[in-house]
Amino acid sequence: MRIARYGGGLPFAAAIVVALLWSGSGMASAVDLAAAEAQFHKSCGTCHTVEANAPLRQGPNLRGVIGRKAASLPGFAYSDALKAAGGKGLVWTPDKIDQWITDAGKFIPGVNMMYHQADPAKRQLVIQYLESVSK
Ligand code: HEC
Repeated sequence: MRIARYGGGLPFAAAIVVALLWSGSGMASAVDLAAAEAQFHKSCGTCHTVEANAPLRQGPNLRGVIGRKAASLPGFAYSDALKAAGGKGLVWTPDKIDQWITDAGKFIPGVNMMYHQADPAKRQLVIQYLESVSK
């Protein structure tokens, strides 16, 4: 079998350039944190808080949720369905949260969060806000 040794690096370099261009264009769309926070309070604030040590609401505290294992906050009574998902290794990334808030009951059937948001722009704002309180 012949392995092409020459030029093998070129497509790779091109891929990096493309990746850089993509992330560059993403950063150009300025993150409006005030709008993101307002959207969070509107969409999620009835049931969730991000204040440290705040009393529990209907849903778990979402401070630091990005990178957190699902159903892992001590003291919150999660559904068996969400606990099972966490047990199988579900960790909340921006992408997973996007799928979750698109339709929580569809993403993980049997959970206690009845929520769906069809507007990708609103989901993106909420996720940006969660990222800002997860650093
Ligand atoms: C009507 C109340 C309600 C609303 C509105 C709501 N949630 Fe929830 N959320 C819950 C409940 C209850 C749970 C726990 C679900 C379970 O145990 O099955 C939950 C769980 C979560 C979790 C999992 C956290 C963990 O520790 O595993 C995330 C992430 C989350 N919600 C994000 C959001 C976001 C973002 C919004 C707004 C776009 C939102 N939720 C709106 C009630 C709500």
